[in-house]
Amino acid sequence: MTKDSNSSDARPRNIVLVGFMGTGKTTVGKRLAQRLGMTFVDMDDIIVERQGKPVSRIFEEDGESAFRALERGLALELAEQRGLVIGAGGGLVLNPDNIRVFERTGRVVCLSLDPETILERLANDRSRPLLAGEDKERKLRETLAARQTLYDAMAIQINRTGLDVGQTVDRIVALCEL
Ligand code: S3P
Repeated sequence: MTKDSNSSDARPRNIVLVGFMGTGKTTVGKRLAQRLGMTFVDMDDIIVERQGKPVSRIFEEDGESAFRALERGLALELAEQRGLVIGAGGGLVLNPDNIRVFERTGRVVCLSLDPETILERLANDRSRPLLAGEDKERKLRETLAARQTLYDAMAIQINRTGLDVGQTVDRIVALCEL
């Protein structure tokens, strides 16, 4: 893929899915990419592949700030490309510059779900360091509350409560006028 992001490029602009952990960014992103004939990429997967270790080990051995720096670098890199549906990590919104660069070069869509459903979906998950250990529910509620205004600030919002993957994709296509 070329690094050219000027308007003469026929490929569609990127669509970036943001939102809290467990809101289905990867599942929805894959289906959306299929529907639009775009390419899906998952930011965490790329970071994990490049670092050769899971996110939990990056947090443990290198620290969260090292992970955020990798996330930032990757956001800049992907924003230079076109034709991508990008599944972001839940913490992408912590750095407003990430959102700014993605909004300049594509659309940013925020997925949300009620905390009870997120908790159910992540009940047996061990891959997310921010929710690891005792009292997952408290960590989830506190992290979500601390970030709520950041997620709410996204221009395109999809509350997935009661929507399956196909319905969520339909809603994104409609709201983004694709
Ligand atoms: C994080 C979310 C995770 C992953 C990392 C940190 C967060 O991605 O990037 O564990 O800060 O919310 P998912 O949203 O895909 O779970």
